[in-house]
Amino acid sequence: MMRTRPLKVALLGCGVVGSEVARIMTTHADDLTARIGAPVEIAGVAVRRPSKVREGIDPALITTDATALVKRGDIDVVIEVIGGIEPARALITTAFEHGASVVSANKALLAQDGAALHAAAEEHGRDLYYEAAVAGAIPLIRPLRESLAGDKVNRVLGIVNGTTNFILDKMDSTGAGYQEALDEATALGYAEADPTADVEGFDAAAKAAILAGIAFHTRVRLDDVYREGMTEVTAADFASAKEMGCTIKLLAICERAADGASVTARVHPAMIPLSHPLASVRGAYNAVFVESEAAGRLMFYGPGAGGSPTASAVLGDLVAVCRNRLSGATGPGDSAYAALPVSPMGDVVTRYHISLDVADKPGVLAQVATVFAEHGVSIDTVRQQGKDGEASLVVVTHRASDAALTGTVEALRSLDTVRGVASIMRVEGE
Ligand code: NDP
Ligand code: HSE
Repeated sequence: MMRTRPLKVALLGCGVVGSEVARIMTTHADDLTARIGAPVEIAGVAVRRPSKVREGIDPALITTDATALVKRGDIDVVIEVIGGIEPARALITTAFEHGASVVSANKALLAQDGAALHAAAEEHGRDLYYEAAVAGAIPLIRPLRESLAGDKVNRVLGIVNGTTNFILDKMDSTGAGYQEALDEATALGYAEADPTADVEGFDAAAKAAILAGIAFHTRVRLDDVYREGMTEVTAADFASAKEMGCTIKLLAICERAADGASVTARVHPAMIPLSHPLASVRGAYNAVFVESEAAGRLMFYGPGAGGSPTASAVLGDLVAVCRNRLSGATGPGDSAYAALPVSPMGDVVTRYHISLDVADKPGVLAQVATVFAEHGVSIDTVRQQGKDGEASLVVVTHRASDAALTGTVEALRSLDTVRGVASIMRVEGE
């Protein structure tokens, strides 16, 4: 039975994502009505700058008083696409208190306060959905929360930030400079309001915290995620990667320990072989591998940023939340029952590519090799190239713990013959 009284939506934010949400809600109104079982209409749009011209939005709906909008008794669903911590957090909490369910794309907030927001949703019997918060258009949260709810996920690995993938891809394929590529990503609407969040890895770390929490049914806080951005990746790193048959990607990696007793979550640039499917993820696309006990290896791929792709994920959540509302149900809530400890980065085991500037004289290679051996780090390959009486030494290790590698690098730095450690990069995907 089709309900004629519309479900009312408060749209908080009408920027890159919000404007596309509004556009699709208008242009696909009939389909959305049929799929939900009731019409759904925008009852108000909260923004910061009311005088800005917004195509396709009825000016009468615009308000700068977002709090008053979410407090209205007739709002069924609040879509939060403002971003940042405040006022988004207060607005979402107020929305639950006043009876609305919430759809959000705000990974920064969910990574920081997801537990409290889920608790507020549960207390008020409402939904909190956030498919758009991780990997743009790619359905990933719902497969992890629902489709894989009967399986045991052991690893989630992938590219979860469109901006940095866009920049790294441009640097690698066209030789573009970092700033030029970042400016283009910003103009295309991929970057966060403060792009530092993208390039320093905070955005990917927030997404890793969300993914690890859902995948391992464990509370993973933003601070639990080891984070390195991509601002230090140089053209020389790309050249070195190429010589190894690799490229460089900013990866998010969430893993259950082999004994199943703990988990780790990390974000950092890594070399991956050109033959690996992640190496061919171009532009602002994202791709995530999920490895689980029964299903095996699953790959999720698609546009990871941008207004229209992100709006697709928001709209999917809107339909789900509206259906729940009509049937008087709520979707899956928070699940952190496993409560596994999150291990520090030192426990992570992987391979490393290390570039050293050393004196070009007899015995130096043996000295360097001894330091690796003393720290229990086994060398896979060594490549040396002379330059003006000095030499550049590139060492690729076998698998070693991050703690052992850190100890090795500290000891190398203290050698007189080692002029400098030019770069250290993890090697993944082999
Ligand atoms: P924008 O900066 O383009 O839009 C933000 C919107 O929020 C603007 O309309 C702005 O108003 C409004 N706003 C800001 N502060 C307030 C406030 N205090 N009260 C009311 N409205 C306010 O951001 P995006 O659309 O790019 O991102 C929105 C959210 O979606 C963020 O959480 C982001 O992380 C997330 N996201 C973004 C993706 C993307 O590709 N852009 C992809 C996935 C998620 P005004 O228009 O007047 O300035
Ligand atoms: N700034 C984010 C990115 C938006 O580039 O991936 C999508 O979450």
